[in-house]
Amino acid sequence: MAPIYARITGTGSALPERVLTNADLEQFVDTSDEWIQSRTGIRQRHVAVEGQTTGDFAFLAAQRALEAAGVKASELDLIVLGTTTPDIIFPSTACLVQHRLGANGCAAFDVNAACSGFVYALGIADKFIRSGQSKKVLVIGAETLTRMVDWSERETCVLFGDGAGAVVLEASSEPGIYATCLHADGGYKELLWNPVGVSVGFRDEPNHGVRINMSGREVFKVAVKTLDALVEETLKAAGMEASQLDWLIPHQANLRIIEATAKRLNMPMEQVIVTVDKHANTSAGSVPLALDYAVRSGKVQRGQNLLLEAFGGGFTWASALLRY
Ligand code: COA
Repeated sequence: MAPIYARITGTGSALPERVLTNADLEQFVDTSDEWIQSRTGIRQRHVAVEGQTTGDFAFLAAQRALEAAGVKASELDLIVLGTTTPDIIFPSTACLVQHRLGANGCAAFDVNAACSGFVYALGIADKFIRSGQSKKVLVIGAETLTRMVDWSERETCVLFGDGAGAVVLEASSEPGIYATCLHADGGYKELLWNPVGVSVGFRDEPNHGVRINMSGREVFKVAVKTLDALVEETLKAAGMEASQLDWLIPHQANLRIIEATAKRLNMPMEQVIVTVDKHANTSAGSVPLALDYAVRSGKVQRGQNLLLEAFGGGFTWASALLRY
């Protein structure tokens, strides 16, 4: 029997209208545009205003992806949504988005793998399609990460932004996703976390203790090393050489981390999609936002090989190598 591949047939994304530049941040936190740009490559980020939720951006991104694919919401058999900032505790944001789209009845669930959430969701969706269980799947990565940002903490507040991206995956005899690799190591949980919640309890602190705690330098070191190994593993799983890649579409956390991965692959930066300057780190939103930008700007063309990768809290790390 011919193999079934999961093929991306449409992409979409959505960002809050409100833009916060590095110069804006200089007004209320002890930082500088020069420091932020030289350490991270970030120039600005989009920030949700009060009342805007993860589900709002997920819904818009999903609508755009469905339109690009020419697929009706009612045709979907699965929605997988990566997020670490769901609208509410339950139902899942995937269920909220499903209802707004009018896709009622299909399976829908969230995946919490922090910044790796979208690539995890893509890996799961790929398995549903390959197994024959699903034919048309909506995969979303969406966040309002700034809801967890302490704007007085300069070590973290300059790094994050909000937004969402989505893809429609369809079963096809043409490739398709060749390989996905998903990993986690909970032993690193304390380097990047938000240790409050329903079961542990919230704190008598501003925002109930909901804020990102991060050891930036350690995260940086582990991320570079882990991503090096991940891209090697992914190429091997797909039976490919780095020279066969057309584009690297990395998680957009820090330009220096992205450059290190590109160097490892021997890829010039002209073959790397960079949106961290405009979006900052949107966690699970970052890879699909970058992918949609790459498609709509005409950079990525049908038939090209793309390597997607992400790294985040958990730690989690994940990749997908696919023909677009
Ligand atoms: N503005 C100005 N100065 C700042 C600052 C800011 N926003 N944030 C930190 N600093 C200061 C520090 O206090 C420190 O001062 P000191 O030397 O007097 O102690 C100095 O800048 C250098 O800090 P350091 O932590 O060594 O900087 P760095 O080069 O490691 O860059 C990060 C910091 C956070 C940008 C970098 O470590 C990083 O990107 N890590 C990965 C984070 C990440 O990607 N997380 C998400 C993963 S999904």
